[in-house]
This record gives sequence, structure tokens and C-alpha cells, in this order.
Amino acid sequence: MKITIFGTGYVGLVTGACLADSGHDVLCMDVDQGKIERLKNGQIPIYEPGLEPVVRHNTDAGRLQFTTDVAEAVAHGLLQFIAVGTPPDEDGSADLQYVLAVARSIGQHMDDYKVVVDKSTVPVGTADKVRDAIRLQLDHRGSELEFDVVSNPEFLKEGAAVNDFMKPDRIIVGTSSDRAEEVLREVYYPFNRNHDRMIFMDIRSAELTKYAANAMLATKISFMNEVANLAERLGADIEAVRRGIGSDPRIGYHFIYPGCGYGGSCFPKDVQALARTAYDCGYESKLLNAVEAVNYDQKHVLFDKVSHYFQGDLANRTVAVWGLSFKPNTDDMREAPARTLMESLWQAGAKVQAFDPEAMEETQRIYGNRDDLQLCGTKEQALRGADILVICTEWKEFRSPDFEAIAKALSEPVIIDGRNMYDPQMLDRYDLVYYAIGRGRNQ
Ligand code: UGA
Repeated sequence: MKITIFGTGYVGLVTGACLADSGHDVLCMDVDQGKIERLKNGQIPIYEPGLEPVVRHNTDAGRLQFTTDVAEAVAHGLLQFIAVGTPPDEDGSADLQYVLAVARSIGQHMDDYKVVVDKSTVPVGTADKVRDAIRLQLDHRGSELEFDVVSNPEFLKEGAAVNDFMKPDRIIVGTSSDRAEEVLREVYYPFNRNHDRMIFMDIRSAELTKYAANAMLATKISFMNEVANLAERLGADIEAVRRGIGSDPRIGYHFIYPGCGYGGSCFPKDVQALARTAYDCGYESKLLNAVEAVNYDQKHVLFDKVSHYFQGDLANRTVAVWGLSFKPNTDDMREAPARTLMESLWQAGAKVQAFDPEAMEETQRIYGNRDDLQLCGTKEQALRGADILVICTEWKEFRSPDFEAIAKALSEPVIIDGRNMYDPQMLDRYDLVYYAIGRGRNQ
């Protein structure tokens, strides 16, 4: 099938590459000329394990092409996927300007039936706005061409995006049109052969499903972080509690890992946007506001622990920070807890020596050169001359470091771990003082 994808960010590029890989004829369009040129040469703009070979393979095979030409893009696909960004507005609601600009372009250039697919995470009611924007352009042209607008939210996780797309838990499609349903069934047939993973519903329910899924997961995390904070005050161990409650299949083990707060481009934005949507229709979501508030505080927990250890005097202290991305296997630092930590440390007069396996360039891009930030080539370098170590992201290479070397390198033998990576008793044997999240008193 001929498919056009607007937007070559995480969602657009993964969708385009994976659909091409299943045999479809895909054209990806982006307004960023430089990005499109690099993509044509097989260079991908994001760090996403497994994506580059899929892009290269399908570009070489001619099934995956790139363009900046809107008219060409609209002409190409029976399906027009909208996968452009929806950054948060000042009030937390999703900014739809890029989505609606694509809709207008489709209306201006289409000359046969199209199925327009909202793939970006967009507030409930957006499909109606997209439909209106396309219809308005067609009216200007005096055209009565037919089209359908479908909601097909994406559920991929950064760091596991290709696998999530190739082996989806579910494919949600919101549509009221039989014709569009048939087209979507055909597009997703290669991913849906063994088990029927497609769930069809009305458009508004599909739009809400996306937010509800992310808000539910964020709620689980904030809940666990709150119980972790309680565990510290009660002298209990959240890791034991996690195992204890996770064994109940109604609760489950997934997404109940306490930590230094959730980050990324999705949970923070989507929780706020859904709370905003609720507010806009006259309903105050006490739960979503609390999920957000707990997470805001949780992102400050690591700094509070550092500050507590040094009794509030951080001037001229040097803190080694391991892990900068918002989670492992990505270089994405959007809303990363490490940023909250570093910015608070700088404000308190401390210096940071930081290491991340993938996000060093991104850190440099965000913060530039500053005297109180030293970007280090290895995790060992980050320790040299530092007072204590703080861990923000659970990268695999931090799992079993040389604890003796850590104890030797630091002026104070202290690890503050935002991801509960280590066994506290084991660290005792190395004479390391270990503070984690929710693990007993003295945290
Ligand atoms: C999230 C969802 O998991 C995807 O299903 C969804 O498609 C995506 O948002 C999206 O809307 O595009 P992602 O943001 O890539 O995916 O990352 P997650 O793996 O969900 O992690 C989000 C944050 O929660 C990370 O900071 C992670 O460290 C934190 N987290 C996760 C916890 O603190 N505890 C947990 O138990 C799990």
C-alpha cells in the first residue's frame, strides 16, 4: 500500500520504517531539509536501538523514501499518517498547530480519496478539527472529494520502539467508516496475522485511550514513589513491598518501580494535557493533578538527599552523576530527573561531573560549556576528584561497577541511587554508604 508519513520524529520515523519493512511503499515528509538529506543517506537523527538497520535496508530497497515536498507527499499515499509534534502549550494543553498545518496541506493538495490517520498523541476532539481543516480547504477549492479521518494512537516506548511497533500489544483504531476500517486492516495485516490485535472503536474513545494508558502508567509510578517516601519514614523497604504487591496478578510487576520520578516526552506532557482537558470541560481531575505533583516533588528527592548529606552546604562540592537520559537506551533528556538534579546542584553552588553512555552530546547541546559542568568520557572519569556519586538512570553498564574503585575515588564513600540498582547489604561490605529510594530509615 502507498503510505505517506508526516513528521520524522520518533513516532513518524519508526512508523515509516516498520511499515516499509513489512512491504508497504512509504514516503516520509518533513519540513526540516537537513534532516531529510541525512535520512536519505541512511543517517538517523535519534538514538534508537535497531532503527538504523531497518531504515537503511528499506531505503536501499526503495520502499522507504524521504521528501520535503508537501504536494508530492500528499499525492503519494492512500494513507496519510500525521505524526508531527504536539508540544505542550503554556497551560499544559497540547499545541495542535503542526497537526492542523498538515491537515490543511492535505486539503490543499489531495486529488483522490484519502484516509488521514492521527498518529500523534492528540487531545480528544482533534480528529474533528483535522476533518474541519481538510474540509475547509476542499471547500475553498470547490471540491467534494471524500476522505476519512481515523485515530490510531501509537504506544511504542523509546529504546524499544522497533520491537514495540513490530509486535504490538494492541492496535487501536478509532473510526466510524467501514471503508477506512478496511484500509487500516490491510495496512496492519502483517503485524496482525497470528493474533487479532486490532481493537476498533469510535474516534473519541481511541483518542482518550492513548491518554488513559499513559496516565494510568504514570499513576502507578507516582503511587509507588509515594509509598517509597512513606517506607523511608516507616523504616520499611520499598523493594520488598514492590515484590510483595506485584505478586498479586491484579496489580502486576510492571511499572511499579520506584525511582527519582518519571521523565520523557510522554508521561509528563500527557498527564498535564489530560488534566487540562478535564479542566476545560468543567471537571477537576484531583487524581491527575496529584500524579503530577508527586512526580514534581520526586524529581527533587535526589537533590534533597545530597543536600541533607552535606547539611545544606554544597558550595564547592563536586557531585559525580551517572545517567542523564530520562531512561536507559535513549539519548532523550526531555524532562529527565538528571536535569532537575544538576540544575538544583548548580543553584546551590556545587559542581557536576557527568557521564551517560549515549546522552553526552545532548547534554552539551542543552547546557553548552559551563564551569560547573564537566562532561566525562567514562563513568570512572566522572568519579575522579568527586565527593559523592548520584545515579539517575539505570543503564546496564552501571549494574555491577567496581565498588572498591568507587569507594577509593570519592572523597566521601557515598552513593545516592535514584533507581535502586544495588543490594544495600552488598554495599555495606565495601564500606560504601548507600542511600536509595524508599529503602528503610536514614535515607
Ligand atoms: C511511554 C509509554 O510507556 C509508551 O507506551 C507510550 O507509547 C509512550 O510513552 C508515548 O506516549 O509515546 P516512554 O516515555 O518511551 O513510553 O518511556 P517509559 O518506558 O514508559 O518510561 C517513562 C518514565 O517512567 C521513565 O522516566 C522511567 O524511568 C519511568 N518509570 C517507568 C519509572 O519510574 N518506574 C517504572 O516502573 C517504569
